Amino acid sequence: MIVTTAQLFKHAYGKYAVGAYNINNAEQAMGLFRGCIQSQSPFIIQISKGARKYTDKRMLEAIIRSAGEVFPEAIYAVHLDHGDEETCYDCINSGFYSSVMIDASHDPFEKNVEITKRVVKAAHAKGLSVEAELGMLGGVEEDISVDEGNSCLTKPDEAKLFIEQTGCDSLAAAIGTSHGAYKFSGHQSLHFEVIEGITKLVPNFPIVMHGSSSVPQEEVRRINAAGGKLGSAVGVDENEYLPAAKRGVTKINIDTDGRLVWTRVHREFFRDKPTEFDFRPPGKIFMDEYANFIAHKNKMLGGEGVLSDLRKSLTK
Ligand code: G3H
Ligand code: 13P
Ligand code: ZN
Repeated sequence: MIVTTAQLFKHAYGKYAVGAYNINNAEQAMGLFRGCIQSQSPFIIQISKGARKYTDKRMLEAIIRSAGEVFPEAIYAVHLDHGDEETCYDCINSGFYSSVMIDASHDPFEKNVEITKRVVKAAHAKGLSVEAELGMLGGVEEDISVDEGNSCLTKPDEAKLFIEQTGCDSLAAAIGTSHGAYKFSGHQSLHFEVIEGITKLVPNFPIVMHGSSSVPQEEVRRINAAGGKLGSAVGVDENEYLPAAKRGVTKINIDTDGRLVWTRVHREFFRDKPTEFDFRPPGKIFMDEYANFIAHKNKMLGGEGVLSDLRKSLTK
């Protein structure tokens, strides 16, 4: 059942974080839905601009609609990840999305406000909520690359002003994470003081954490042992998801870790079976492994076993 992102946030706020997972194809969709049923968790399906172009946006929507029929128990929202203004309007008008993200964080503050305000107006008119971004994460996002030196943490007083001026419904804040597999060279903690600073000034406002993959070292080791050449880096400590959630981080975005599962499964499969050329056997292993991976993440986010309570609260 597709619900609004606001409904998911209302149930989760301060207790657990809703996992937001990027999908591109049917195998990921199957693993995602199965994993969320396994852990009895709600979830957010994230669709990036790149995912919309990978096959065809209608193909991806059809896969999601079908997954909803295959797994009638699932409760989820559909969200545009890192949208530009034009893509936001396309999604708002499609009637399929629960929420959109307008990412104008690379523009100066005033321009970010101006663009976000326009998207909020269009989205609210159709009942969708809007995630906006302030501050700059490091890493690579589709066509934009920000090196660590240029990333900057969100300032809580600016966040308050931004939320008041734009009317956005949730805020992607830069709290020390970055996108992709190359995050930190050594252990690094989240900037809890930034989360607390925002929550203090804007109580009960959902904060979104991007770049939340943990880049498990065992996964990287296995990929490299099967012919990969991934560099060494670590991601977000999974034990910090829940403390962040308790402080107001309501949506946690994870994509890279799922890509690592895919890469590991396929590299090991074809290494061990060099005469194989049917893509279904590794595809089946991937769906199983991806489901387990999703269930594990949901547990770490504190959202394991919450589905029946959410269902009850939705029917009240
Ligand atoms: O933050 C971006 C997400 O990982 C989506 O990646 O734009 O390559 O689909 P993508
Ligand atoms: P990761 O690259 O850490 O998985 O972050 C994904 C993300 O933020 C999608 O918006
Ligand atoms: Zn992101």
